[in-house]
Amino acid sequence: MLLKFLFKPREPQFALGEDIRLRYLGPSDATAFRDHIHELHFEDFRDRFNGLVSDYWLDKYIARSLNEAIVIGAFAGDHLVGVGELHTGGRIEPGQGESAFSVASDWRHKGLGTILLKAMLRAASDNDISTIIVMTGSQNHAMKALARRFGARMQFAGDQSVGRINVADGLRLAARRLKDRNFPAPPVPIGEPPALSASLT
Ligand SMILES: CC(C)(COP(=O)(O)OP(=O)(O)OC[C@H]1O[C@@H](n2cnc3c(N)ncnc32)[C@H](O)[C@@H]1OP(=O)(O)O)[C@@H](O)C(=O)NCCC(=O)NCCS
Repeated sequence: MLLKFLFKPREPQFALGEDIRLRYLGPSDATAFRDHIHELHFEDFRDRFNGLVSDYWLDKYIARSLNEAIVIGAFAGDHLVGVGELHTGGRIEPGQGESAFSVASDWRHKGLGTILLKAMLRAASDNDISTIIVMTGSQNHAMKALARRFGARMQFAGDQSVGRINVADGLRLAARRLKDRNFPAPPVPIGEPPALSASLT
């Protein structure tokens, strides 16, 4: 599936110079996911986890995410360059999902985060999730801009900024930007369907 030039950007012009392929990630993608996280620049790593984490913690987090959450990977060739996660269950209310995103530092600001969020909206809708929660550091302008793009009102909560994307509204906004072009949900890897019982705690 090729998602090159999936949507028309505003400013600046996006330059996704390679074909970007999206698919769900499963447990067999742990090494690629770990490599992707380790490739993030220091500030991006810190923004992704709201601080620093140990390798041990990271490995456990990745294993749990790939086993329990909806995880969408964006590949440039064989290289994992972006990940969107949607966690449900546990302390998260039914019908809601808590999101997390990471885009390879060299790929930032080219529209990849937007593509991942659009795919996540489709995946959420397909799995009866009506609200996507975005939680990020209050200084994380890129993540806040990305969430606002799909209708979230970001509000301060301590040193965090929290917003909610109504999935139906977000899909409408995405469709408006796509000017009636469809964007497919990522295919599920054979034998590794994403489960919906994740917890972040
Ligand atoms: C947040 C993140 C996923 C956005 O991905 P991206 O591919 O850069 O996003 P896009 O190119 O689709 O741009 C989305 C919005 O962010 C803005 N943006 C992107 N990079 C930015 C930057 N460095 N500074 C300010 N704004 C930025 C874009 O202008 C766009 O805003 P707009 O809709 O108002 O034009 C990415 O920056 C990232 O991985 N950051 C490190 C990890 C992280 O912070 N994750 C979020 C917490 S879970």
